[in-house]
Amino acid sequence: MIPVFEPEIGQEEKDAVADALQRGEISGSFGQYIPNFERAFADYCGVKHGVAVSSGTTALQLAVRATGIGKGDEVLISASTNIATALAVIYNNAIPVPVDSEPVTWNLDLSLLESKITPRTKAIIPVHLYGHPVDMDQLMEIAQRHGLIVIEDAAEAHGAEVRGKKVGSFGNANCFSFYANKIITTGEGGMVLTNDDQLADKLRLLRNLAFTKPRFRHEVAGYNFRMTGMQAAMGLAQTRKLNRIISQKIQMAAWYNAHLADIPGITLPRCQPWAKHVYWMYGILIDEKEFGMNRDELAEKLYQHGVETRTFFCPMNLQPCLRAIDGFRPEPCPVAEKLWETGLYLPSSHTLSEETIARIAQIIRKVRS
Ligand SMILES: Cc1ncc(COP(=O)(O)O)c(C=O)c1O
Repeated sequence: MIPVFEPEIGQEEKDAVADALQRGEISGSFGQYIPNFERAFADYCGVKHGVAVSSGTTALQLAVRATGIGKGDEVLISASTNIATALAVIYNNAIPVPVDSEPVTWNLDLSLLESKITPRTKAIIPVHLYGHPVDMDQLMEIAQRHGLIVIEDAAEAHGAEVRGKKVGSFGNANCFSFYANKIITTGEGGMVLTNDDQLADKLRLLRNLAFTKPRFRHEVAGYNFRMTGMQAAMGLAQTRKLNRIISQKIQMAAWYNAHLADIPGITLPRCQPWAKHVYWMYGILIDEKEFGMNRDELAEKLYQHGVETRTFFCPMNLQPCLRAIDGFRPEPCPVAEKLWETGLYLPSSHTLSEETIARIAQIIRKVRS
């Protein structure tokens, strides 16, 4: 079976994790690996502070809390995203408001943003879906005009750029995931980046049970969202490979584009001229009429031929766990709903060879005819 994604764990990661263990840098509140990883990743993104945490989900939850979003506040989020984006909002007793996708990049449609703003709107969480960045210049301009906080969900887009500037460097507090299938991984893990000194202190405080002085007397209720030293050691080794991994991702996408281009009924991912797309996942849309079968039928055929795929996200307006929330407005998101019905992503490991990609394209061609 060709998996949807395979992490690359080399000798460098093994040596780094062994070294962390050797030094006793195992937990999340001491040692050099955590600050070193935070420094390296924040530098890579061109941001002043990095705060490493236990996952992308906890990064988002922490960022929402630390930026002061709370009970009854509305937060505009991309409709097409992982549930974690919305969970971070509801864990803070705020209300996620899904914003439909636009059909080219599949990211939230910036032309709809202002129509969703109410007096209760406090923030926007744009998601750089599958590695294509949101136009953050345009989004920040809208946010600033309305006095809104911005938290980038960059879980899928390490190294993606908007007009030469890296994602994770635009918003107030910006979140990454280092889960096993992410562009770089620490097994489980995440990080919040910010240029705001006070916010960085607050993120660090809340991450670690809000210990202050005297120790064991707590002014605020924090969390244990600490990353371990072993994870940070692995993350440091992975960060050194990030540029090379991204180049391979871009090559992987170029091979798919070339091999799938002439098959009718498939929409390929597009990259805007101002964007650097890092192709976390290579997604395609299937037009049932033109392709001759629907997305699920194609996924099943591919599975039978040893190719694993995954559907696009179920949009947030359709999520039962969100619709059950008081004040949630499940307005239709027709573009995101269509993506959920017709989108799937193909194996997207950066280590895939052109030969394997050509074979996958050949299988798609064959099952269609
Ligand atoms: C857009 C998005 N946000 C948040 C997350 C949550 O990250 P994690 O799985 O590390 O909690 C993910 C991925 O899992 C994601 O794709």
